[in-house]
Amino acid sequence: MQRLQVESRLASYQVVAEPGALGRLGEVLAAEGLAAPRSLVSDTVVAPLWAQAAAASCGASLLTIPAGEASKCWATVEDLLGRWLERGLHRGELVAAVGGGVVSDLVGFAAAVFLRGIAWVAAPTTLVGMVDAAIGGKTGINLERGKNLVGAFWPPRLVVIDPQALRTLPARELAAGGAEVVKTAWLGDRGLLPVIRDMAQPRFGALPVEVWQELVMRCATVKAGVVSADEREAGPRAALNLGHTLGHALEAATAYRRFLHGEAVAWGLLAAARLGRRRGLLSPAACEELSSAVRALGPLPGIADLAAEAVASHIGRDKKRDDGGVAWVLPSDGGVALGQRVTIDEALEVFTELQKAAS
Ligand code: GLY
Repeated sequence: MQRLQVESRLASYQVVAEPGALGRLGEVLAAEGLAAPRSLVSDTVVAPLWAQAAAASCGASLLTIPAGEASKCWATVEDLLGRWLERGLHRGELVAAVGGGVVSDLVGFAAAVFLRGIAWVAAPTTLVGMVDAAIGGKTGINLERGKNLVGAFWPPRLVVIDPQALRTLPARELAAGGAEVVKTAWLGDRGLLPVIRDMAQPRFGALPVEVWQELVMRCATVKAGVVSADEREAGPRAALNLGHTLGHALEAATAYRRFLHGEAVAWGLLAAARLGRRRGLLSPAACEELSSAVRALGPLPGIADLAAEAVASHIGRDKKRDDGGVAWVLPSDGGVALGQRVTIDEALEVFTELQKAAS
C-alpha cells in the first residue's frame, strides 16, 4: 500500500493507494483502524462498476445519486440527510463516498452538516477526484448563481485510491482530469509535464495501472503539501485555483452542460498562460511548456460561439472577488503569482484571443 500524510487542523489523515483497494474497502478501512461505514454513497454510473463491490466488502448499504454535476445541490443533500436519519445513523459513525468530485464534494458536505458533523472517507474513482477533489477537505454544493458557493472545510478520515478505477473512466473524463494533473505538475512537480505530454491521448487510457498510481500519487503529494500548509486557504492554497477563474465562468456560462470541469480548467490554464505572458510573469518558453501540456490532452469542447460578455459577467461573480475586483492566480516561471487583479476588459481581450486561436 502506498501512502502519504495530509495534515489537518481537525484530524490529520492519510491518502492510501493500491490496485484493488475498492473491492477490499472493508479490509482497507479496518487495517487503517476505521470502523466499517454503514452508508456508502455513489452515483448511478460508478455504483455498478465499483461501488456495489466496495459496499459489499464493508457490509454498507449503498445509496445512489444521479450521476452528474446537477446532483451537487441542496435537494440531494436534503435527500441524503433524510436517508441517513431514516437508517438511524448516529454521530459516532462513518459514511463513505465512492465516485468522482461531485460525489466526494456532496457527501463530504452532507457529512459536515449531518448531526453537526460525522466522519467520512473518500474513495475517488476519477482522475480529478484522485489528484484534487478528494484531498484537502473542501466540500460543498453549487447554487444556481455559481459553483461551490456553499460548503465547508470537512476533511475525510481517509482517502482510498484504487488506480484500477481509471480503467473504466471514459477517455474524455481521463483527458479532462489531465488538466488538473497539468495544473498540479505546474505547481509542484514540473518533471511530470513531459511525462504527461508523452502519455497523453491516444495512449492515455491504455497506461498500466502502476503508471497511473505513480502519476496520481505524485500529484497527491503536491496537493497534500499545499493543503497541509494552508488548509483554510488563507494564502498559498489559492495556487490550486490556477486555471479556475475562467474555468468556473465557462462552466456557469454554459449551464454546466458543455464542459467537464477539467475541460473548462484546461481553457482556464490556456487563458492564464496568456495573461502570465502578457504581464511578463512567464517567459515564452515557460508559456509554451504549460500550454503544450494542456494541448497534448486533446481537443476541447469549443468556445468560439460563446458570447464573451456573458463569460466575462460570470468571471465578475467569481468567489475570489472583493471590492478591488477579481483576483486571478497566474502562472509564473517559478510557480504562480497569487492575487493578480485582472480587469474585465483584459479578461475579455484574452478570451477573445483564445476564441480566435481556437477557431
Ligand atoms: N480544488 C482546489 C482546492 O482544493 O483548494
